[in-house]
Amino acid sequence: GLTKAIAFNNDTIEDELPQGRVFYTGSQLWKTIVDNEDKIDVLAKLREEQDITMWGGNSSSIDILVKSDSIKKVRNALSEKNIKFYVTIDDLQQAIDDENPPLEEEDFDNRNGHRLTWQAYHRLEDIHDYFDHLVETYPDLITLQEIGRSVGGRPIKLLKISNGQSGNKAVWIDGGIHAREWITPATVTFIINNFVSNWENEPKYVQNIDWYIAPLLNPDGYEYTHTVDRLWRKNRRGAGRCSGTDLNRNFGYRWGGQGSSKNPCAETYGGSGPFSEPETMAIQRFISDSDAKWKAYISFHSYGQYILYPWGYNRVVPPDYKELEEVGQKMAQAIRNAGGPAYTVGPAGNTLYPAAGGSDDWAKGTMKIKYAYTIELRDNGRYGFVLPASYIQPTAKEALAAIRVIAEAANKA
Ligand code: ARG
Ligand code: ZN
Repeated sequence: GLTKAIAFNNDTIEDELPQGRVFYTGSQLWKTIVDNEDKIDVLAKLREEQDITMWGGNSSSIDILVKSDSIKKVRNALSEKNIKFYVTIDDLQQAIDDENPPLEEEDFDNRNGHRLTWQAYHRLEDIHDYFDHLVETYPDLITLQEIGRSVGGRPIKLLKISNGQSGNKAVWIDGGIHAREWITPATVTFIINNFVSNWENEPKYVQNIDWYIAPLLNPDGYEYTHTVDRLWRKNRRGAGRCSGTDLNRNFGYRWGGQGSSKNPCAETYGGSGPFSEPETMAIQRFISDSDAKWKAYISFHSYGQYILYPWGYNRVVPPDYKELEEVGQKMAQAIRNAGGPAYTVGPAGNTLYPAAGGSDDWAKGTMKIKYAYTIELRDNGRYGFVLPASYIQPTAKEALAAIRVIAEAANKA
């Protein structure tokens, strides 16, 4: 592997207010093969000169978004240093347009009063209507609550699934903290739907958990990715230039450290202080006020197919990391057994990159929740954030398999 860290998501956003929708016509996604530090330096320079942004990668390759006007320049710079690359998306706007084809009316047949299909990515309204449908349909199993409001005043909703027995252990699941990671609210709602429509057949260790599930933590950002900029990551604090805080740098454990930025224009801006944002504050209030017996805390992200555990703020591990590794490996195995691809298990700071202020570190470090994970769903960079809707069901099925493993571990913890 490479010794030198490359900080992803660290790009600054163009210094202009978007007039209407942002288009990515002619921009490309490339998988670059970087096997030494000189090659990383080449990419770092191109990034500084705003020709590329970094999407993700691992120890041998890095996915870069190449701006349409910079394709020639970047190609030359790479070939000069013998950096191999593959074009994975040759027109990013086309990929965005193709990602979420409109549904036919018949896709809604037999839906029994809600519009979620798991064959398409849905708007916030469909998702929230589905929550209402759930409480009406399963009043004995589900309760719905608003735990706070976003900067833009949208409700942040939490579903509790519980058989009502006392003594249950509690598991937290969230999605949609990063706006553009559309696969995560789709996956979390899929998991809910499978649990409730098949509850009697779930194993006892699933039924005996109190599930606290927040499928869409960044509703403003999510709507913004549907209406203005498909690739928006942060929340929507501030209307002008350089708006938004990276909510996964805003949690209050070792806030402001490595991998988070003080620059409001950066994709990884950590905010003006720990929990400065209402979206993260809602979570911190809810969990610290609750007397649930928290045993696991799972945040879904994309992409890269990783199962990450603390610490994220640095390349260090907690004393009980072997147990987190073991349960992580069991999740990865369950994913493979469900027909899914390989997921890489490891501590976040070592395996991906150090980044302080994440929800997983706060859950473990401050709230002392034993099994804290960030799960980076599909894919591996073929489509990256612009994962076609046809991948929702396979991705969500394997995530469900991983969540059952968590339930088993939480029961024993
Ligand atoms: N892709 C995630 C992010 O950048 C990874 C978070 C892992 N956890 C951490 N505490 N760094 O937010
Ligand atoms: Zn994310």
